[in-house]
Amino acid sequence: MDAPNTKPYHLPSDAVWFITGCSSGIGQSLAQLITQTSNRVVATARKVSALSSLPTNDHVLKLELDVTSIPSIEAALQVTVERFGRIDVVVNNAGYTLVGDTEAAEDQESRAVLDTNFWGMVDVTKRALGIMRDVNPNTGQQGGVILNLSSMGGWSGYPGSSFYHASKFAMEGWTESVAKELPASWNIHLCNIEPGGVKTNYATSSLKHMAKRHPAYAEPNYPTNVLLAYMLNEECRSLWSEPSALAAAMYQVVSRGQRIPIRVPLGADSWGMIAKDLEDTKKDLDDLKEISLGVGDPKQLETINFLK
Ligand SMILES: NC(=O)c1ccc[n+]([C@@H]2O[C@H](COP(=O)([O-])OP(=O)(O)OC[C@H]3O[C@@H](n4cnc5c(N)ncnc54)[C@H](OP(=O)(O)O)[C@@H]3O)[C@@H](O)[C@H]2O)c1
Repeated sequence: MDAPNTKPYHLPSDAVWFITGCSSGIGQSLAQLITQTSNRVVATARKVSALSSLPTNDHVLKLELDVTSIPSIEAALQVTVERFGRIDVVVNNAGYTLVGDTEAAEDQESRAVLDTNFWGMVDVTKRALGIMRDVNPNTGQQGGVILNLSSMGGWSGYPGSSFYHASKFAMEGWTESVAKELPASWNIHLCNIEPGGVKTNYATSSLKHMAKRHPAYAEPNYPTNVLLAYMLNEECRSLWSEPSALAAAMYQVVSRGQRIPIRVPLGADSWGMIAKDLEDTKKDLDDLKEISLGVGDPKQLETINFLK
């Protein structure tokens, strides 16, 4: 079996980055950072007019792209290939959160989060893989990197945004599976970026509240209300990371000439919460060992050694 990709990735000096959701926040900062390097950037947004903070020159292409529209995705990828002949790094960044009480969630608003955060990422990535494998070799090295903006909430679930967490957990599982599906020789690397809190529009103008709250969850000290009070308080957000720091870390992960890990936590909150979650999971594994190994044949594990 051609093993999952553990080889280093080498970013070409004139690499082409294709980024969704560049009107603000992390996407905008990353696009700005790329314009200061020898790389080229395709900055996309639902409205091209929202990309005016980026310079206009031969290394920058600004395109309209709504990740919930397949024709819009296909058109943007086609124009990119016509203009630059290749795509080295795709950043599936477009996304938002929906907050409220899960019991009160309406079907349409719940599904819409997955349409953007999960299916948007799937629909871009499925098409980008073929470009990295089949088109890139015409103008340089085969392969590339797909960076998916997950979250520390793609590792652990927290109260009040269950559909957001579902979308990021789905993203992480899909990404890990696809990363292992691709022969290493194609040089395509997939990665879940897991930020903690970042000072963007995420918790302000981009934040969506469910249409209705559920009366049973009204107590201010109930978990969702405690978390919402934290997120909506500007002072609490004052220690969140700068989007420019996120952009610099993402650029470093891709450009440092090393293996691209499947998960990259960014920020002390993300790193610390994931570390705590791992400790708790290990405790559960130890506590449950006897019950767990009491099921089935001990040799069952050996039959899937090829997946390790
Ligand atoms: N900030 C945080 O604390 C944090 C933490 C963990 C993960 N993240 C993730 O980081 C990513 C970027 O968010 P951000 O923090 O930079 O927030 P942001 O400032 O609100 O930026 C989100 C971007 O996504 C775009 N977008 C939303 N729906 C879209 C669609 N259907 N098609 C194309 N673009 C769409 C928005 O464009 P419009 O202007 O058109 O709405 C905006 O440019 C998200 O996936 C988010 O889940 C953020």
